[in-house]
Amino acid sequence: MTSALWVGTSWKMTKTLAEGGAWTTGLRDRLDGTAPAGVQPFVIPSFTATTAVAGILGEDSPVLLGVQNAHWEDEGAWTGEVSVPQAKDAGAQIVEIGHSERREHFGETVETTRLKVATALRHGLTPLLCIGESAEVKDAGGSSEFILDQARGALEGLSEEELSRVVIAYEPIWAIGEKGRPATVEELVAPFAALGEVYSGKVTGLLYGGSVNLDNAASLLGIEHVTGLFVGRTAWNLEGYLELLRIAEAHARAAQ
Ligand code: 13P
Repeated sequence: MTSALWVGTSWKMTKTLAEGGAWTTGLRDRLDGTAPAGVQPFVIPSFTATTAVAGILGEDSPVLLGVQNAHWEDEGAWTGEVSVPQAKDAGAQIVEIGHSERREHFGETVETTRLKVATALRHGLTPLLCIGESAEVKDAGGSSEFILDQARGALEGLSEEELSRVVIAYEPIWAIGEKGRPATVEELVAPFAALGEVYSGKVTGLLYGGSVNLDNAASLLGIEHVTGLFVGRTAWNLEGYLELLRIAEAHARAAQ
């Protein structure tokens, strides 16, 4: 194991400033300036909390900060949107791109993910590209082909150096959120083998996301080519997130 395991959370559309502030202050104080060995923590709050979270974490924090979306244009008449330079100005280092909830409800396409990845890279932010197939695609046996198409489409034309700054999160739609069910290790081996064949060692990380919890985190990290976890509900409670960080630290130590 040479590079850190990325373990982080998107708060999605949850948490007031007070709630997010308490979570972030708790994390900062418990980490006390140092990431768990071999682990790269990250947090992706709502836009409204970005500057507050950046302020609480402070400069030189071991925790990276992200936004859940950003536009591909640097500025202009795009009502309701936020640009990558604005996200960077607010303290973000990561731009989440193409989460299935955005693809399903907000018209995100392979083409818009490609444009957003390029813009994030141009401004020196880390694109966190989310890919994942529906239950229908999975049941038809098309998971690997589908997610490779999504990744290829979004990452097309990047140089080796640019690709090396990308993080990919595989999040099967059927495994995400309240309506999802946790994936088994067996179900994830083939998709990660397919992703690993193309991207292992070429990107910053290949993360798994979807119903990650304290019981399955260790075995998910044990899947070949998985180099991190992208977590929703379990990490919205700070103690849950801290426990996930400890599980990842133990995994990183054992893999040394
Ligand atoms: P859950 O961990 O709540 O299933 O959400 C995963 C996710 O979508 C992270 O982006």
